Amino acid sequence: MSSDQACKPHPATPDVQAKASFLIRALLFLLAVIAMAASTPVVLAQKVQLLVDTSKLGARIDRNLFGQFAEHLGHGIYEGVWVGSDSPVPNTRGIRNDVVAALKALKVPNVRWPGGCFADEYHWRKGIGPADKRVVTLNPNWGGVIEPNSFGTHEFMDFLEQIGAQAYLSVNLGSGTPQEAAEWLEYLTTAQPTTLAKERGANGHPAPYKVALLGIGNESWDCGGNMTPEYYLSQLKIYSRFVRNFNPEQQQKNQMLKIAVGPGGGEPRWTEWTEAIMKAYQHHQWSWDISGLSMHNYTVVKWPPSYASVGFGENEYALILKSTLDMEGLITKHSAIMDTYDPQKKVALVVDEWGAWYAPLPGNNPGFLVQQNSLRDAVLAALNLNIFARHADRVRMANIAQMINVLQAMILTNKEKMVLTPTYYVFKMYVPFQDATFLPVTFDAGTYTHGEITLPRVDAIAAKDSAGKLWLAFTNIDANQAVEIEVGLVGFSIKSASGETLTASKVDSVNTFEEPAAVAPRPVSTKAAGGKLSMKLEPKSVTVIAVEQ
Ligand code: AHR
Repeated sequence: MSSDQACKPHPATPDVQAKASFLIRALLFLLAVIAMAASTPVVLAQKVQLLVDTSKLGARIDRNLFGQFAEHLGHGIYEGVWVGSDSPVPNTRGIRNDVVAALKALKVPNVRWPGGCFADEYHWRKGIGPADKRVVTLNPNWGGVIEPNSFGTHEFMDFLEQIGAQAYLSVNLGSGTPQEAAEWLEYLTTAQPTTLAKERGANGHPAPYKVALLGIGNESWDCGGNMTPEYYLSQLKIYSRFVRNFNPEQQQKNQMLKIAVGPGGGEPRWTEWTEAIMKAYQHHQWSWDISGLSMHNYTVVKWPPSYASVGFGENEYALILKSTLDMEGLITKHSAIMDTYDPQKKVALVVDEWGAWYAPLPGNNPGFLVQQNSLRDAVLAALNLNIFARHADRVRMANIAQMINVLQAMILTNKEKMVLTPTYYVFKMYVPFQDATFLPVTFDAGTYTHGEITLPRVDAIAAKDSAGKLWLAFTNIDANQAVEIEVGLVGFSIKSASGETLTASKVDSVNTFEEPAAVAPRPVSTKAAGGKLSMKLEPKSVTVIAVEQ
């Protein structure tokens, strides 16, 4: 072949052209098939096998793990709960009827109030007495707005009665005194005709109130007074001694549980805090006691909170969920310290502030911490509830921040309108897990990878309720792939199964006042055969199944 011939292009005939094009297409098809096979998760090829051993009963999943937190912050209380009795919004003694009905369906076990940082600047006497005589103060922590004190002790207790929840009060240890805290408790709980009890009666409630839970300070290492662990400990001992609950029905049974300020993270500063409190607790004298150590942990990724709560993509979905799973390590770390000083697990780890904290939505006072709530938050909520359930022997209480219109809320309101968030629906679907008994599950569903982030593809928990019904909760974290799952049950024969799933078209799908049911649970179909239960878990979904035998 001459160099000339080699360089000269051959004018190809149509036949040769067609063959070449066929070969190229076949080659491309083959490459596509190879690429798909490499990236397709094993779970599509075969069902994920999950085993629940119903004979291995674990700890009780305390109903208090599903607690709420309502602070005087933005529209969390004013407008969210309290509209006043002359409002056009339908209300009972000033408390929104729509919100009460929605919360009743969640069987809220307890509500933490009045804060947060607000609690350490709250003086209870300003929130009692005739409405037109209430002292008007400021809320310097949260937007510097007026605090009318129209929603005070009686209004809060009325709200609790309307929704059927227990009180978790936070006493002011930062700017208050032990006397102020002790008198609040006497005012609330004594059945004897003291001057404070008579004042309570004159204010409309002669019978003593029940106070189930009492927080002694809030974040005393920061907004609660920048205390060292040693200083806080000295205050804790004093407050714990003098904040007495006198309610005759809370003396033997149902005693009020006192909760100390605990850590706000996993760094040395926080482990030292847990060490200091628990070490002192180990040999504590009769004159002070605690039943819980609080822990605060928000999913925020970086400070100040800058991730958007709306209009984000899969990157932010994966990143936020990766960050929320840090809750597991944090609980493990602080539980281990607590185990050293309290092996009998008398003191509960109380995660009384948790949830996603995003950038404030534009158009609002940034101090009001207003954010939307998306399908991502539903997945996030389920993952955290599952972590709490797995640690139910030590973690016996938790409070999501916050209940209405603030941070990862259950409910958003705008004047007479109300919308239930995806997080609300997860709490509703999880109601059967309240006080159910944890059962171990084993499975391997592989991983979900997005960019450089790898997460477990599926999370699952199981529990048995007091009626013997089995409850399964699955979270398919994978944003794109459905998972076929097959559940084997040891010691349990399936008579029937039914359930609900929560998903939506996009990771950032939200419910709005205009479209309130974009993210809402719908029935899921299950198949029982050969003693096993099969179902399909949609991508980015939370599913809860009830199984009867
Ligand atoms: O939930 C908002 C704030 O976060 C609380 O007031 C405080 O305790 C925490 O820092």
